[in-house]
Amino acid sequence: MYPSSNGPLLGALAAAAKPKRLLEVGCGLGYSGLWLAYGAGAGGYVETIEASREHAKIARGHFKAEVLEKRIQVLVGEATRVLPALKGRYDLIYFDINPSDSLIVLDHSERLLRRGGELKR
Ligand SMILES: C[S@@+](CC[C@H](N)C(=O)[O-])C[C@H]1O[C@@H](n2cnc3c(N)ncnc32)[C@H](O)[C@@H]1O
Repeated sequence: MYPSSNGPLLGALAAAAKPKRLLEVGCGLGYSGLWLAYGAGAGGYVETIEASREHAKIARGHFKAEVLEKRIQVLVGEATRVLPALKGRYDLIYFDINPSDSLIVLDHSERLLRRGGELKR
């Protein structure tokens, strides 16, 4: 899994939006999830979806190492299966999975994003 260079940007966007509930689709090893949690600050809670059990395990280890495990929850499963079960409103949704799955993410984001919330790709 690759850390990208946009982590600080994601953190800055989260800091500006001050989201309380964040959803990420495509946790990977947790790099972007950590930046989202850092940016959102103590009032933010991140749920992050990951299909690979192996990636989820490594990401949880990173969240624990940064003492952020209580503010980041990994939801293990295919986004197409996990998203329909989610309820309520998110202040910020970030998705970082294969573009071929983007349409389903967009459909659910419309349902899950609060009015005025932020959707990032
Ligand atoms: C580009 S990486 C995510 C990188 C991560 N956001 C970061 O910046 O560290 C994409 C991740 O999404 C997962 N993934 C891909 N398609 C998925 C899907 N349909 N549902 C859930 N997870 C998926 C892959 O296993 C991979 O770990």
